[in-house]
Amino acid sequence: MAAYRYDPVFLAATDEALHELQGCHEILEIGPGAGVEATRLALAGAEVTGLDITEDLAREGPWSLVLGDAHDMPFEDESFDGLLFNRIIHHLTDLPAMLTEARRVLRERGIAVFVWPDWHETRCSPEHQPALVAAQTLPGLGCAAPVCADQVLVLAAAAGLTAIKVSHLRGRYEGSAALTYAFGHLIATEEKRQFLSARLPEVFTDLCTFSDELEHEEGFIEIALAVLVVERSEMAPRLGVASDG
Ligand SMILES: C[S@@+](CC[C@H](N)C(=O)[O-])C[C@H]1O[C@@H](n2cnc3c(N)ncnc32)[C@H](O)[C@@H]1O
Repeated sequence: MAAYRYDPVFLAATDEALHELQGCHEILEIGPGAGVEATRLALAGAEVTGLDITEDLAREGPWSLVLGDAHDMPFEDESFDGLLFNRIIHHLTDLPAMLTEARRVLRERGIAVFVWPDWHETRCSPEHQPALVAAQTLPGLGCAAPVCADQVLVLAAAAGLTAIKVSHLRGRYEGSAALTYAFGHLIATEEKRQFLSARLPEVFTDLCTFSDELEHEEGFIEIALAVLVVERSEMAPRLGVASDG
């Protein structure tokens, strides 16, 4: 999904997230990737740590990278006053575990900011529906759980994180750009094409047919990026809450 990282709606959502974190001094970014936001936060004066499962994307900058998993964070309790999750939570397999960890590493009154594409708020023209559904639901392609803001809010509350703000920023893609958004990333690499053609040959054929028609395609997709801000509440987490995915 990296193709549209620099689209206006993503940039606007990122700016909003960083604005929310401007009062924080020690920030953990979970899944920083190349560290564009980690660098911006550090240049603005925060002490920034990035936690990523891989160092493949990491670039040098005025922040430190720690290798590890968002579901089991290698930090002491109450280590940070701000957390940033930019375009990562839809890749995670166990949101309750991650949210419990988020609360644990946050100090009292610390905040966590989440930005991700909220599939439940996404609208599209009928001809894009199959590709959009495929993009949201195909297993093994990086989107572990299509999550909507309401689901995250419920899980966050159960983990002891209180909602402060929820907003959606919308971006409209027309014609071929819409199709590229919906499934371009699914066939963007040879690895993904091989995965799809081996496991889901019919879907793969459909997507390639769509792809051939890109130049002539009409219609639209309107995405919605959720920006959610939560605060560590005094209430202890409720245990035993199961994820509904
Ligand atoms: C879509 S990229 C987003 C990168 C960056 N935040 C951005 O917006 O460009 C998702 C990032 O999350 C990381 N990631 C995925 N699963 C993770 C996990 N369980 N724990 C920590 N990082 C993870 C990936 O390695 C990748 O850097």
